[in-house]
Amino acid sequence: MSDGREHKRDVKNHLLFEISTEVANRVGGIYSVIKSKAPITTAEYGERYCLIGPLNRTSAAVEVEAIEPTNPALKATLASMSDRGIQYVYGRWLIDGAPRVLLFDTGTGYKHLDEWKADLWSTAGIPCPPGDSETNEAIVFGYLVAWFLGEFVSNETSKAVIAHFHEWLAGVALPLCRKRRIDVTTIFTTHATLLGRYLCAGSVDFYNNLQYFDVDAEAGKRGIYHRYCVERAATHSCDVFTTVSHITAYESEHLLKRKPDGVLPNGLNVIKFSAMHEFQNLHAQSKEKINDFIRGHFYGHNDFDLENTLYFFTAGRYEYRNKGVDMFIESLARLNHRLKISGSKTTVVAFIIMPAQTHSLTVEALKGQAVIKALRETVDSVEKGIGKRLFERALRWHDGDVAPGEKDLMSSQEKVMLKRRVFGLKRNSLPPIVTHNMLDDSNDPILNQIRRVQLFNHPSDRVKVIFHPEFLNSSNPVLSLDYDDFVRGTHLGVFASYYEPWGYTPAECTVMGVPSITTNLSGFGCYMEELIENASDYGIYIVDRRMKGVDDSVNQLCEYMYDFTVKSRRQRINQRNRTERLSDLLDWKRMGMEYVKARQLALRRAYPNSFDSKEPFPFFDGTEQKVSRPLSAPGSPRDRSGMMTPGDFASLQEGMEGLNTEDYVGWRLPEEEDPDDYSFPLTL
Ligand code: UDP
Ligand code: G6P
Ligand code: GLC
Repeated sequence: MSDGREHKRDVKNHLLFEISTEVANRVGGIYSVIKSKAPITTAEYGERYCLIGPLNRTSAAVEVEAIEPTNPALKATLASMSDRGIQYVYGRWLIDGAPRVLLFDTGTGYKHLDEWKADLWSTAGIPCPPGDSETNEAIVFGYLVAWFLGEFVSNETSKAVIAHFHEWLAGVALPLCRKRRIDVTTIFTTHATLLGRYLCAGSVDFYNNLQYFDVDAEAGKRGIYHRYCVERAATHSCDVFTTVSHITAYESEHLLKRKPDGVLPNGLNVIKFSAMHEFQNLHAQSKEKINDFIRGHFYGHNDFDLENTLYFFTAGRYEYRNKGVDMFIESLARLNHRLKISGSKTTVVAFIIMPAQTHSLTVEALKGQAVIKALRETVDSVEKGIGKRLFERALRWHDGDVAPGEKDLMSSQEKVMLKRRVFGLKRNSLPPIVTHNMLDDSNDPILNQIRRVQLFNHPSDRVKVIFHPEFLNSSNPVLSLDYDDFVRGTHLGVFASYYEPWGYTPAECTVMGVPSITTNLSGFGCYMEELIENASDYGIYIVDRRMKGVDDSVNQLCEYMYDFTVKSRRQRINQRNRTERLSDLLDWKRMGMEYVKARQLALRRAYPNSFDSKEPFPFFDGTEQKVSRPLSAPGSPRDRSGMMTPGDFASLQEGMEGLNTEDYVGWRLPEEEDPDDYSFPLTL
């Protein structure tokens, strides 16, 4: 065999390396993929699994515990690289599953950058202009990974090795593995395409023109030709090419010119509580924390009832058009108008959580929390004083005395203190729409859109807006909540994406029992629409951005949001229960099946002689899946026949007739809970 893989390796006890730039380093959704998948992968592989990424010292310092490698081949390989000046951290990633990670300090490889760039050009024909630091980083990392894999397989000669790469940034090693005939089998998963992201961010009618784009010219026009070459080379050099959704598979076929072998949809590590409605209690607790923030942010304008206030939000990397923030703000303006004319007493506070460049938190944002904190402290101390005096008077009371009254309970000093706090709440301006000082306030697309539609948090507005241009963190002095806790406390996530290969944010809402709105241009939206009949009954609303014009889509989004505002508390609680019941559908225990299949296919393609051609794939029988309407909503189940697993697509099915997948796909909708059984009161 000419590709260097003639060696008879043990395919059964193979080793798995998963390579990504987001290992122990949060950037976006890929971090969520590998982190949440870790428990099932370590359960399957144990020590045979290791993640490889570039070292980010700041995040590794908190996320990784260094250990000494014990595997002899790994030890020898790392020692040899270290002798040649390459530094790394090897250790346990401190997350569920505690997988082993190998993080290369790319800084120690830059001395070879020029040599490696020249090599990339001569071996793979990939050009590399100077000054693109992101691509330089990808090249150094890619060469280090290829170096590592090459040496590793010469030290470990008995077991097969699978190297699974995520996204172009980790993809440089793929053409190198092929050119150098390194005896590994490779999988490449795209979580988006470069051209897709760039074209959609502009004003292109992307989906209707996918098959017509002159890809090289488009990449050239945008100054990303060299990056595109890396992505395309990775796509064509791997043994198995996959992506995260059908919509991105279609896009990849046209833009990267290879039809994916399969779809590996993203799962989540679903946490089960012992009490089934515990997530409802958590909602109430987290909502109270958001209420606290709102009291501070709106100081001097707390003229709306928090018991009748709904929290909507959108979140993610700042991609204004791709993430549908333009559509969200426009729909909020229409919602504001509708709520006003209908005389609604409900207030909607819409949060936009998207990191942008900022100087600092604004003085106003900090002051808001400070004045409310001071007021609360004063009231607490007055309360204690009153209690103490009341107790003393009651103690001294004799028959015939006037019963202790409330009017003389507050001391004059306390009255002055309280007055000062109340005066401190005076404000001449409207509550701000942004919590931070922006680096480029006047050109910020989100702020400009909010200005255009004039959602300025005026008392008459039924829709208020808060733009928090930083990811959430419980140590933030203003909105002190971790992202997950924040999501739990909200009522509705809104993700009106135009370009979204998967979209973790609505999936995360679902497993936390928070309804969400997404679109049929997001991988997650399409997946749910395909799988569940009448998804909106389950709190999965899908805006049509495919067949409708922009204005109609905005109206549909507005309509969904408006309908949500007229739900009673009881209806919201009911719906949250239904949403949460979908969790198992998104659990890696089920979704992980596709990864298993991709790895099997990779092994079969690289080492066909190690497999008996009649032997079927393990773990597959094509169990039928269907999710019908919720019990309380009458209707017919979606008709579905034949094979159906989460990523059912193309050649991942090769040779997989006959075996059992019950553990992975045997999914049943759990029994519906009746809120009447709850111990807590259902008001409203
Ligand atoms: N996220 C976060 N903190 C925040 C807001 C978002 O960690 O304050 C995470 C969120 O949990 C999600 C990821 O950012 O997992 C965004 O992933 P998604 O797939 O939605 O989009 P991507 O950024 O990958 O395009
Ligand atoms: C949860 C809590 C209830 C609370 C409700 C508020 O279900 O368990 O005690 O009344 O949340 O729901 P809402 O949709 O009004 O925030
Ligand atoms: C990408 C996509 C996002 C997806 C994530 C994980 O960053 O933009 O839609 O959820 O990868 O696959």
